[in-house]
Amino acid sequence: GGPKPLAGRRIIVTSGPTHEPIDPVRYIANRSSGKQGHAIAAALARLGGDVQLVSGPVTLPDPAGVHTTHVETAREMKDAVEALLPADAAVMVAAVADWRTDTQADQKIKKGAGGPPTLAMVENPDILAGIGRHARRPFLVVGFAAETQDVSENATTKLDRKGADFIVANDVSVTSGVNEGGVMGGTRNRVKIVSRSGIEEWPEMDKAQVAERLAQLIARRLDSITV
Ligand code: PMT
Repeated sequence: GGPKPLAGRRIIVTSGPTHEPIDPVRYIANRSSGKQGHAIAAALARLGGDVQLVSGPVTLPDPAGVHTTHVETAREMKDAVEALLPADAAVMVAAVADWRTDTQADQKIKKGAGGPPTLAMVENPDILAGIGRHARRPFLVVGFAAETQDVSENATTKLDRKGADFIVANDVSVTSGVNEGGVMGGTRNRVKIVSRSGIEEWPEMDKAQVAERLAQLIARRLDSITV
């Protein structure tokens, strides 16, 4: 039921955290649950989109009507996203680890006389920035910004640095009031839509409602593009 304004549109969505292994039993991760990204994938599919979700490790079921690829690390997520091009739009909701350990030990690192290990870190590729400047860049590129301070300023910087059309900014320092567990991991969100034409503040709502509104916005934007 309902209108299908995204029929025939291929849309890539990333969701969830990435896990960056340290050794066979340990990894670096973050508090992303995938709730916001999965809700967006589902909302886009309800509007008729051909939705290709690339998900990091989450405990959520794959959304109905969506094609889901499961990955673990940032580098796997980047490869999976690029393999899905070309697309009409990309919505990068995943909380991709900015860093990984320089090396991953083949064996479990033992506790020993040497004391705690020092983990040398290297930067992960920026998937959004790569897509934002890709030769086969989707018509519409939407990034997120998880900030704990100067939300609007940092999101505006990310818009340009990552070559996005929109940045959906959320304040992930919010741990009370919005919902138990905070924006990362919880069920509600309050976002600002940052574009070159300004900043639009949306009220706090369920992640499913944020997803619904964002899907409508994406449908209108793609509609205005003459292919
Ligand atoms: O998963 P939930 O529990 O529902 O929580 C939702 C959320 C808080 C994770 C989500 O709403 C959100 O803010 N996602 C972006 C998280 C993030 O990593 O933000 P960032 O400001 O570090 O990154 C900015 C953008 O660049 C994001 O679109 C991110 O996907 C992308 N990025 C970042 C680093 C990297 N190496 N590659 C990327 O593509």
